Amino acid sequence: MGRFVGRIPQGGDIMEGNRLAEATGFAPVSGGGFTLRPPHLGDVVPYTTFLADPDVRVWLDDVAQRPMSTGRVESLLLREGWCLWSIEAGGAFVGVTSLYEPDLARGMARYSIVIGDKTRWNRGLGTAVTGSVLAHAFTELGLRKIVSDYLVPNIASARMHERCGFVVEGRFREDAWRQGRWVDRIWLSMLRSDWERHSMRAASAPAARDRP
Ligand SMILES: CC(C)(COP(=O)(O)OP(=O)(O)OC[C@H]1O[C@@H](n2cnc3c(N)ncnc32)[C@H](O)[C@@H]1OP(=O)(O)O)[C@@H](O)C(=O)NCCC(=O)NCCS
Repeated sequence: MGRFVGRIPQGGDIMEGNRLAEATGFAPVSGGGFTLRPPHLGDVVPYTTFLADPDVRVWLDDVAQRPMSTGRVESLLLREGWCLWSIEAGGAFVGVTSLYEPDLARGMARYSIVIGDKTRWNRGLGTAVTGSVLAHAFTELGLRKIVSDYLVPNIASARMHERCGFVVEGRFREDAWRQGRWVDRIWLSMLRSDWERHSMRAASAPAARDRP
């Protein structure tokens, strides 16, 4: 079973659940104060607790607005994922990030991230993790487009996507009911070419600052 290196995976390569994740470079990724590793059973209870916190779940999809049992979370983490990683920071499990709904014929997948440990918010972790997953998607998996979205009041997510170089494709007006009102959803994407440009800019930024 090979890894998808440097090419767009073809539909025939699709496998079930984490078998594909194992085949697509599922090795732990470390750096920048965090580790991305395969989820395990010990993550189920803490992740269920994270999702029960209204602050964590409020801007997630409708399905996350209802209480989730540990059985449902276990299935999400351990059986249903395509490329799904647990995020560890400071030696502790703090959340989950994933590439999901792969459309391998078109070289596309969707992106998601949930940092459930609120003490970790607004310290650059989301931006750093997203950068690592994008690098994996474009270089290891050979994908050509990653799509994502956020609900407009989710300023942290807006800022994180912007800093990672996502490009806004559109606005779905009044797309979700939250906190007693309808809120808009922003749809974004990143092409491999966007990512290459963004990475080059990011790599050259410190050098530019160093100039007299
Ligand atoms: C969205 C999420 C992944 C962001 O992770 P994070 O580690 O906090 O993100 P970062 O620190 O890299 O970036 C967040 C940015 O938003 C900014 N920000 C957050 N709230 C803000 C506010 N109310 N006003 C202005 N800026 C704000 C932060 O200051 C930071 O920007 P900066 O580094 O330029 O100062 C995290 O908050 C989370 O998991 N939330 C719950 C689940 C969720 O909403 N997931 C995303 C669904 S689309």
